[in-house]
Amino acid sequence: MILAIETSCDDTCAAVVSPDGRVVSSVVSSQGVHARYGGVVPEIASRHHLELLDAVVDDALASAGIALAGVERVAVTQGPGLVGALLVGVAGAKALAAARRMPLVPVDHLQGHVAASFLAPEPFEPPFLCLLASGGHTMLMRVEGHHGYELLGQTLDDAAGEALDKGARLLGLGFPGGPAIERLAAEGDPGAFDFPISAGLAGLDFSFSGLKTSLLYRVRDLGEAQALRQRADLAAAFQHAVVEALALRVERALESTGMGRLAVCGGVAANGPLRERLARCDVELGIPERALCTDNAAMIGSAARFAPALPFPDYLGLDVYASGERAPVTA
Ligand code: KG4
Ligand code: ZN
Repeated sequence: MILAIETSCDDTCAAVVSPDGRVVSSVVSSQGVHARYGGVVPEIASRHHLELLDAVVDDALASAGIALAGVERVAVTQGPGLVGALLVGVAGAKALAAARRMPLVPVDHLQGHVAASFLAPEPFEPPFLCLLASGGHTMLMRVEGHHGYELLGQTLDDAAGEALDKGARLLGLGFPGGPAIERLAAEGDPGAFDFPISAGLAGLDFSFSGLKTSLLYRVRDLGEAQALRQRADLAAAFQHAVVEALALRVERALESTGMGRLAVCGGVAANGPLRERLARCDVELGIPERALCTDNAAMIGSAARFAPALPFPDYLGLDVYASGERAPVTA
């Protein structure tokens, strides 16, 4: 069994994953404390990870019905993410692994999102084109195997989830913004406003900053009272633009690569209208269940099945990284 830990942002997560990719248990403790600040406060996130990690790990082991003695290796997110938050998870993972002289598998968070697709009961196997859309990243990747990917395109400014979070804030909605916008948008008309999707940006890169600015101006032009009255329409049209901006690049990539299989991952992949829109593409589609799209440790355990393990005590000096991607590039 693999015990996996994920603390790259504001969710404290632990999971037990079997070597054949079954999620035996998965615990996610979301730190609701950040909502009042309208975003994640790094220092507060680290402190909460410190308070929550032991209980979350115990909970994951208890739900799996095993003790630490039943774990063969420990996996942990090494980066990218918030350094202080990552350090708590990595220190905890080192301690658990070292206590029983177990190997440790450092996992790249982005590779983890991709590996959510490989989990049982319906693993979606490579090769495939992968759209990763989260709060920190928006990427198109060519995935040929279980470890590594080739980057085909990425955002030039904000990530899709970041755009939704900022849009939600402009509309006076809560954090995280993606789910808040999705809920409100269900009552609105996506055709009520026309927001830009950077269609003029050729190739497979994304840009969301113009969309965000456009919402800002629209809210300003409408005035506070009218914007409030049309908040559901604004949310629906804004969400529609994010979905179409993602779908446009996916369709371009499917055409230019000739790939016939599409995987979607990352927090934004939990979005209902995005899932429905991509289901209309003429491809074999693999989107993990919603709980495996947003941050979780099961995806880290899944990636660890295919990543090299460090034997004890080689990992004791292991450090975290804040940005960039360290997963091996396949081409
Ligand atoms: O993958 P994730 O949990 O964390 C990162 O690695 O960033 O993604 C979080 C992002 C946030 O921006 C959040 O607003 C967005 O995913 N998100 C959603 C939904 N659930 C989470 N966006 C749209 N619709 C959702 N249902
Ligand atoms: Zn993530």
